[in-house]
Amino acid sequence: MQRAAGPIVTIDEGVALLLAGEVVAFPTETVYGLGANALSDEAVSRVFEIKGRPAGNPLIVHVSSEGMARALCDVWTPQAQAVVERFWPGPVTIVLPKSGMVPERVTAGGATVAIRCPDHPVGRALIERFGGPVVAPSANPSGTTSPTAPAHVVSSFGGRVAVIDGGLCERGIESTVLDLTGPEPVVLRPGAVDRVELSWVLGSEPVLVSGGGVGGAGAARSPGVVGRHYAPKARVVVFEGSEWPDVVSRVHALHPGSMALITHRTDRFVPPPHVTYFLQNDAGAYARDLYAGFRSADAHGASALLIERPPEGVAWEGVWDRIRRAASGDEPG
Ligand code: TXA
Ligand code: MG
Repeated sequence: MQRAAGPIVTIDEGVALLLAGEVVAFPTETVYGLGANALSDEAVSRVFEIKGRPAGNPLIVHVSSEGMARALCDVWTPQAQAVVERFWPGPVTIVLPKSGMVPERVTAGGATVAIRCPDHPVGRALIERFGGPVVAPSANPSGTTSPTAPAHVVSSFGGRVAVIDGGLCERGIESTVLDLTGPEPVVLRPGAVDRVELSWVLGSEPVLVSGGGVGGAGAARSPGVVGRHYAPKARVVVFEGSEWPDVVSRVHALHPGSMALITHRTDRFVPPPHVTYFLQNDAGAYARDLYAGFRSADAHGASALLIERPPEGVAWEGVWDRIRRAASGDEPG
C-alpha cells in the first residue's frame, strides 16, 4: 500500500517519535489527541507549546492498561476500580491523587492526575508499543474545535505535527471527566459517557459541577472547562424551537453575510447561500457529527452559526456543554 503524503505516519513511526521526546497526534474514540511521553517534562512542555495551552491547565494521561494507571496514582479507590472495570477502555477519565512518578507539569502543579484508557485499537497500540503513559490533550490549537478526523489535525498544524491515521472518531466529543478525589464522585466535564451510565457502578448519579460556565464550581477544579472552548470562528447563536423562524431574520440583521444552521429537526432549513447541517435526533449520533458541523460552518465562511437547542436530558449533557461553550463570548483559555 502506498504511504499517504504529508505528515501521516505509521504506529511504529509514532512510537519512535514518542521515544525521541517528540509529539505525535493519534486517534482515540472521542477526538484525536496530541501525544507525548507523560514521564518526560520536556516532551510534555512541547505539547503545551505546540497547542498554545496555558500552563495552568492540566493534561489527561492516557494508558493502555489498569496496571499502567495504578502506577500513576497515590491511592486507587474501590470506586476507581469499579469505573475502570465497567468503562475502560472507553471515554471516562478518572481523577485521583497522583503518585511521585507524574511530572508536575502534567498536572499543572496540582496533587491530582486525570487518567483514561482510550477505546481505539490504533491509539491503544501506540501506547502499548511505546510501553508507558502518554499525555494527550485534544490535537487542536487551544480554544478551537477538537479534531475528529486526521485531516482536521493537518489543517490546524500542517507539517508541524505528525499524525497517525485511525479514521473518523466514533464518539466525536471528549471523554467524561470524573473526579474521584472528594467524598462524593463529581463530573467535572460531561462527555461521551453520561451520568446515568456512571450511576450503574457508582450507585447514584454523580453531581455535575461543570455546568456553571466561567466562574462556576467546575472552574476551580478542572481549569480546562473554563470559557470558550470547542469554538468555531462563526458567531454561535443558540435558539429555542419556539424562536423559529423569526430567529433567522433577527440574526441575519445582526450578522450580515452567509449563515449556517445546525439542527436535529428535518423540518428546518435555511435556503442558499446559507447552509443547513442536519444532525440526528440521537445524543450519540449528534455528538459524533457536531464538531464536523462547526467545521462545515467555518468552511462555508458563515458569519453566524445558528444552533437549535438540542433535546433536554442527561444523555445530551455532553453535547449541550460543547454548544454552550461554543456560544459563550469569552476568549479561549
Ligand atoms: O476525550 C478526551 O478526553 C480527549 C482525548 C484526546 O483523550 N482529550 C482531551 O484533553 O479532551 P483536553 O486536554 O482537551 O481536556 C482535558 C480536560 C481539561 O478540561 C482539563 O482541565 C481536565 O481534563 N483535567 C486534566 N487534568 C485534571 C485534573 N488533575 N483535575 C481536574 N481536571 C483535569
Ligand atoms: Mg481540548
